[in-house]
Amino acid sequence: MSNYYQSLTDSQLDLELAVLEQQISEFRSKNLTLDMARGKPHSDQVDLSRPLLDMLSSSADFIDKGVDAANYGCPEGLPSARQLAAELLGVAPNRVLVGDSASLSIMYDVIDNAFTRGIGGCEPWYKQGKVTFLCPSPGYDRHFALTASFGIQNVPIELGEDGPNMDEVCRLVETDASVKGIWCVPKYANPTGITYSDEVVRRFASLKPAAPDFRVYWDNAYCVHDLVEPHDELLNIFDALEEAGTTNLVYEFASTSKITIPGAGMSWVAASDDDIAELAAAFSFHRVCPNKMVQLAHVRFLQDAQHVTEHMKKHAALARPRFELVCSKLEAGLGTLGIASWTRPQGGYFISFDGPVGSAQAIVSLAAELGVKMTSAGATWPYGKDPRDTNIRIAPTFPSMEELSQALDVFIVCVKYSAARLEKQSRQA
Ligand SMILES: Cc1ncc(COP(=O)(O)O)c(C=O)c1O
Repeated sequence: MSNYYQSLTDSQLDLELAVLEQQISEFRSKNLTLDMARGKPHSDQVDLSRPLLDMLSSSADFIDKGVDAANYGCPEGLPSARQLAAELLGVAPNRVLVGDSASLSIMYDVIDNAFTRGIGGCEPWYKQGKVTFLCPSPGYDRHFALTASFGIQNVPIELGEDGPNMDEVCRLVETDASVKGIWCVPKYANPTGITYSDEVVRRFASLKPAAPDFRVYWDNAYCVHDLVEPHDELLNIFDALEEAGTTNLVYEFASTSKITIPGAGMSWVAASDDDIAELAAAFSFHRVCPNKMVQLAHVRFLQDAQHVTEHMKKHAALARPRFELVCSKLEAGLGTLGIASWTRPQGGYFISFDGPVGSAQAIVSLAAELGVKMTSAGATWPYGKDPRDTNIRIAPTFPSMEELSQALDVFIVCVKYSAARLEKQSRQA
């Protein structure tokens, strides 16, 4: 589809810019404060888990399969919590460690262990010189920030409709021993919402890394976060590993953050027997045990995978209309202009938006001036550098429907104005 603004005469373009400037000044006078920045559940979604707080009381039995949740011990996590996490990820319970509220903390600890103590009998990364991580982009800003905080070099990798560019991943992982990891969000990727194809998962499972301490950091944060049926199916990476006869290659992460109460749940890491034993030993230096009372309340509330599925349908019923609103507003506002594209995810928390080349920074800063907070432009790329300056992450869940609708009206005008300005500038150059 050709760019509408390019088809205008100079005077038509000037007229269009004047109309958009008028709309911008009207928005400015409204003093809006709207937030489409971070992937937070709406309070109605969090409220779905209020009964979790009633699972424990002063008269409750705190024993879970012979383990006292109300005392030290069981650093690997409460037995029923390991069982539930294992069921959700499709692995054996003894291959899962259950920790506290944030999977990001477990990811940090896993990287920290490789960096300071080394993994698989290899030298710690801090002694190895250059350490590189592959970052499918656009991707999750906090992943990239985590590895960057250790001085690890983040290298962007193209992310397509069915996963990262695997020819590039194989080439780099199998020939360059400084490549120690790759960040993956394999289901409903943050922010594009794509799910890796079976072929991509199988190619990951068959990797033959040049570095023995290379691992795939498989952040399955949105494993049960389907919005529509039929939902995307992700091939179980541990089944694929078994099929390929590969071991000690993957750390898989997830949490209850967007299942129950963000920041107040449990998170987990699953890996091979060797890797789990190594992580359990490493974690013992800084935690005696996780918060097992929280784990107990969670397993009593969530029970098993079937109940989790039912619970997640209630989340979907609240989140889906917000995604539909974003997509229908974008379609109505921008669909015929040939200046932008966006994803229509089947699950997860984000919509990924691409405007004209060189527009994203301008769109996000104009939206901020008009009171609409978006994720910083570039955040979805390592070091905040989107090479084409096109990508913007839209997080629809947190605002009310009314706020979201208003925020999109502003956003659409910002996109149009930035596209029209770019056209004007190119004519003036
Ligand atoms: C891909 C991904 N991983 C992890 C997280 C954070 O999870 P947690 O709250 O368990 O640290 C998020 C939050 O947006 C995310 O999008």
